[in-house]
Amino acid sequence: MRTKIVAGNWKMNKNLQETEALLSELSAMLPDSNAEVIVAPTFVNLQAAINSLQSSTMKVAAQNMHFAESGAYTGEISADMLLSLGVDIVVLGHSERRAYFGEDDALLAKKVKTAVEKGLKTIFCFGEELEDRKSENHFSVVESQLKNALFDLDASAWKSIILAYEPVWAIGTGETASPEQAQEMHAFIRKTIADAYNASVADDVSILYGGSVKPNNAAEIFSKPDVDGGLIGGASLVASDFVAIIAAI
Ligand code: PGA
Repeated sequence: MRTKIVAGNWKMNKNLQETEALLSELSAMLPDSNAEVIVAPTFVNLQAAINSLQSSTMKVAAQNMHFAESGAYTGEISADMLLSLGVDIVVLGHSERRAYFGEDDALLAKKVKTAVEKGLKTIFCFGEELEDRKSENHFSVVESQLKNALFDLDASAWKSIILAYEPVWAIGTGETASPEQAQEMHAFIRKTIADAYNASVADDVSILYGGSVKPNNAAEIFSKPDVDGGLIGGASLVASDFVAIIAAI
């Protein structure tokens, strides 16, 4: 049985006071759910988030991480630094990291490898751009993103991988993939993993959908058999919206 997950990617939003306020609102409103709930505030507020959620079931993730153990990488954050705070989940490969910070599949393969070796869970994001979908290349783009960054991992490493399919054209645009488009791609992803590894690796990996998930469309998207939850951007910044999305799973 794979885990249902709803994760909130806060991106570069919420200062310290706003982070604490949103987490206390969320803690008070959190519905009973069988889903794992994760929030990813900015690095500087991870410690505060861990402290705020000490008696909560919500988990804290980082939005990025460097692949190196330590050293002369000014401005970067290592796996050990995250672990020392009690953060053992990291988002890697978000399309904004790929687009604005030049992160490519080869770099992401190194980051994922480090995360696995260090014992962090990775929420690995990937997805096609609008032109890829228009030219009907979306399946091959997604397949190569997975292959290049993840398929060197041993089958056993997949226990710590969570996938987040996020078509770039649906992120922050208000345009969502239809539940059928999401299901079609998630089924393709699962088959690609089954072919590269085996059916049990494919069946056990949680595949989240991300891209303009809102309270009014979450239930339909989550009802699809290969959609195991969501990675939520904008709507995770508003407690009532995020809670409604969690309740929809
Ligand atoms: P969005 O962002 O929900 O605001 O579209 C999703 C994401 O970037 O993970």
